[in-house]
This record gives sequence, structure tokens and C-alpha cells, in this order.
Amino acid sequence: MKKITILGSTGSIGASTLDVIARHPDRFEVFALSAHSRVEELAQQCKKFQPRYAVLPANNDLPAQLKTRLRELGAKTEVLVGATALETIAAHTDTDYVMAAIVGAAGLAPSLAAARAGKRVLLANKEALVMAGQLFMDAVKEGGATLLPIDSEHNAIFQSLPRNYADGLLKVGVKKITLTASGGPFRKHALSELKNITPDEACAHPNWVMGRKISVDSATMMNKGLEVIEARWLFDAKPEQIEVVIHPQSIIHSMVEYLDGSVIAQLGNPDMRTPIAYGLGFPERIDAGVAMLDLARAGKLEFEALDDARFPCVRLAYEAMRRGGTAAAQLNAANEIAVEAFLHHQLAFVDIASLLEEVMTTISVTEGTSLDEILVADAYARTATKTKLIERRTLSRL
Ligand SMILES: NC(=O)c1ccc[n+]([C@@H]2O[C@H](COP(=O)([O-])OP(=O)(O)OC[C@H]3O[C@@H](n4cnc5c(N)ncnc54)[C@H](OP(=O)(O)O)[C@@H]3O)[C@@H](O)[C@H]2O)c1
Repeated sequence: MKKITILGSTGSIGASTLDVIARHPDRFEVFALSAHSRVEELAQQCKKFQPRYAVLPANNDLPAQLKTRLRELGAKTEVLVGATALETIAAHTDTDYVMAAIVGAAGLAPSLAAARAGKRVLLANKEALVMAGQLFMDAVKEGGATLLPIDSEHNAIFQSLPRNYADGLLKVGVKKITLTASGGPFRKHALSELKNITPDEACAHPNWVMGRKISVDSATMMNKGLEVIEARWLFDAKPEQIEVVIHPQSIIHSMVEYLDGSVIAQLGNPDMRTPIAYGLGFPERIDAGVAMLDLARAGKLEFEALDDARFPCVRLAYEAMRRGGTAAAQLNAANEIAVEAFLHHQLAFVDIASLLEEVMTTISVTEGTSLDEILVADAYARTATKTKLIERRTLSRL
């Protein structure tokens, strides 16, 4: 029986993970859950899965509310609070697997704690690798952790690579990694229409059901940019070994091109329970509750080259990756602020990329060799982005 901690259990990935776990009561047991704001969802999850611990942030009355609800629901879960409690449940000796599914930079420290503690880390929180790729991969190595990518693209690549890929991509005959991208909801919109896009329109992804932040990132394709950086660290790939191609149907989840011209891809319906079940069952295959792919019904599989004018965020991510040091962490931080501003109607959809570009051209980048240094750089980028936002809004009022 494997005991599982889910960081971010009330989110889209968290809920899908619990769905897969519930299908295998003979294999998996929930050890701990965490949430940030959705207390009732967390209480109901505790009632159903009876974890030993549930974690909430410290600076509000949510933990008290949760304790009351747990009493009413008859759940014996102990409530822990604060960021250090996230690290506690991630590194606890009694947990075997950690699903890292907190959104954004907040997921870095507990994901790192799980890696250092040598857990099987099911990594959905791509921000951990974007912000601190070298540090994270070193922690995996030193802690003796097993890192399994949950992002569908990276999971597909992992499945399509030979098992000894860590010897070096070229050495094992790999020429290129191709990440597929749906192109999001605005792939065909006239560029002139994009300025009036609302948050709800941006969050209505054509193929995937996801949290709001990643949905906006999919619409701008910053999500793909972050995934390029994630792939660089996961597979020790050079920027020129990673390519992006638009594939609107999201059936081919990504592919690996070999020196002999072979291309190996992983296909399936767009449902995150497939990579989650892969990570939970690895190396075995287990039922994920996902409908089988019917290719005849799917009909056409289409592909297009990436349009830089429509999706400049991908270029910004490549630039940050090539620049190295804290650049990717700072791009990620600036993007979190920009997306939040867009979701609160304080920034137009089309202005997300230009704001990020402005921040990245003015910001200074350091080496980023320690977590502290990366967190300082992250905070600096957040402040710089907020300042630029205020400047833009002031200018627009003049
Ligand atoms: N959804 C997908 O299909 C998908 C696919 C690939 C990769 N990912 C990655 O997986 C991660 C999660 O995505 P998601 O779509 O599941 O996001 P989501 O639905 O927004 O869920 C995020 C989870 O993190 C918690 N959370 C939010 N802010 C937090 C903070 N500051 N501290 C601690 N916990 C916090 C949320 O708690 P509350 O809900 O209680 O506020 C929720 O449990 C992201 O890194 C995303 O890029 C997602």
C-alpha cells in the first residue's frame, strides 16, 4: 500500500489524482492533503479519504473553519498550518509518493522538500523546474528521489524516451524533443480581436479542463514556454533540441525524434488522469478511468508551425532559458503577476506579453545558485512587474 501526499488537492490536478486513487483502494492510501482557499472541498476530501493531515495557510481563519467542518463530518484528520507544514507533509517519513500540484511559485519549496527526502515526486508544478531547475534536479539526485513528470507533454516524452535517456540525449540516439501545443482558444482569432478578450473567454480551453492560471497561460502560450524550460531540465536538453508544434486536437501529447528518422509519440484522449495514473502506477500501467482513444472518430490530426506574432510568450521563454541564471524564475514571477492582473481586469490580454517583455529587458539577472537567491530574484521581478503595471495604468489615464 503506497501512502500519498497531495499538495494542492483542491485544484484540477489534485481532484484528478484523488479520482485515480479512489479507483485503486487496494494500492493507494491518502496520507495528507493541502489547499489554499477551498475549505469545504478540502473538508469533503478529508471525509472521503481520511488523510492523517490536512494543511491550510496560517494567516486567516480557514484552519478554524476546517476543524469545525471536520468535526461535523466525523473526519479524524489533524489540521496543520503554514508553509512549513507543506514541507512537513511532503517530506514525512510515512509518505511514499508526493503529487506536487500547487499552482505557481508557492509549490517550489514543498516540491523541493519532497525531492530532498527521496520521495517519488509526481511533478505537475512546472514552476518548480522553471524557477530552480538546477537546484531541483540536484535535490532529486542527492535525495535519491524518483521524479515522474505529470505535465502531459513531459509525461509523453518520458514514455517515448529510452529508459537510459539520462546518459545523454544524443548518446541514446535522440535528436529532438517536440512539444505539442493546442494553440489554445484564440489560435484562429484575428489579432485585432484579442484586445477585448475576457478572463472567462481565456479560461475556456478547447480541449483541457484546468485551473484559471494555467488556462490563461495556455491562451497566451506562456504555458508552452514554461514547458520548454521544464523539458530542458527534466531531460537535460539543449534549447535547440526542443521544438514546439501546434497540434489543435491535443491527441498526440508530444514526441521524440531519433537520429534514424524515427519519431515516437504518445497519444491519448486529453485527460490528465492518464499521466497521473502513469505516475502512480509506474512502471506498471493501471486503470485511469479515461475513455479509450477512438482515432477513426477523432478523424484528422493537424499540425501547424508556431506563429511568433500571435504567441510571443514562447520566444520570451526561450530567451530566458538561454540567458540562464534567475531569468526563467523572474519571467515566471512576472507572468504570475501579469496573469493575476488580467484575471482581475487590470491588464488587457494582448498586453500580457508586452508587459513581460518590458520587465525582462529592464531587469537584472543573477546566477541563482541558492533557493534564497532565487526567491529574492522572484520577489524583485514581482515588484518590477507591479511597478510597470502601475506606470502603464497611470499613462493610459493621462
Ligand atoms: N490542470 C492541468 O491540466 C495541468 C496540466 C499540467 C500541469 N499542470 C500544473 O499543475 C499545477 C496545478 O494546476 P491546476 O490546474 O490543478 O491548478 P488549480 O486548479 O488552480 O489548483 C491549484 C491548487 O494549488 C492550491 N494553491 C493555490 N495557491 C496556493 C498557494 N499560494 N499556496 C499553497 N497552495 C496553493 C489551490 O488551493 P485552493 O484551490 O484551495 O485555493 C489548489 O489546490 C500547476 O503548476 C499547473 O501548471 C496542470
